[in-house]
Amino acid sequence: MELLYLETVDSTNKYAKEYIKELSDKTVVYTYNQTSGRGRLERKWNYMGKDNIYASIVLKPSSQMKEVYSNLTQLLCIVLAEVMEEYNPIYPPKIKWPNDIRVNGKKISGILAEGVNNGKHFDGLVLGFGVNLNVKKEILDKIDQPATSLNIETGKVIDKDDFLKKVLERFCLLYNSFIEEGFLLIREDYKKRAEFLNKEVAVKVFDKTYEGKAVDVTKNGALKLVDKNNQEQILYIGDIL
Ligand code: BTN
Repeated sequence: MELLYLETVDSTNKYAKEYIKELSDKTVVYTYNQTSGRGRLERKWNYMGKDNIYASIVLKPSSQMKEVYSNLTQLLCIVLAEVMEEYNPIYPPKIKWPNDIRVNGKKISGILAEGVNNGKHFDGLVLGFGVNLNVKKEILDKIDQPATSLNIETGKVIDKDDFLKKVLERFCLLYNSFIEEGFLLIREDYKKRAEFLNKEVAVKVFDKTYEGKAVDVTKNGALKLVDKNNQEQILYIGDIL
């Protein structure tokens, strides 16, 4: 992987998308000073201080979009959770479908995948992730949802370069097999970490909300719900409320 460090940038995802033609496959654009981070569903990703990670992996697996690429966020989610668990065996990181990581019921990391198309040509995918590694409790308390940081969960200062290296190594190790085998490669690991399974959930998909029991994650990484009328719903995108 090629690493491209930026002293400061508004958003590593925005930068990677803008320069995708010049950046080679598996370039990692990263910074410790992201001034205008973006999250899923038009939300923002707060700047948590310079001792945290803000990174985007540029991927160019082929010149056409394939369905499996949309599951790469779930691969990265598993990789991040596994690396975090090395530091924190007490509360194993859990997943909130599709790709939020939570420790002890609080969000610790976010992933934002964006595809870049040029007409019919698929230029590539930008897989952005932010991880709270060393955030002060006072800062976390100001976030609009329960949030935590690895230093708080472990009582230790986390070496951010070391963490990033571990994540990228693990991601690379699994990437080729994942592109070939798809979500099935990680399905069992993903389900073990899925905190929403066998629970009643409400899932917002654009302006519609689906309610039901989350009974499975399908072989394609979709969420299977069964509603009170025993009707199955398979959801490919959305946000568990
Ligand atoms: C979310 O939970 O909504 C996703 C947050 C993704 C944040 C990361 S930080 C690095 C990369 N650059 C961005 O602007 N966003 C992603």
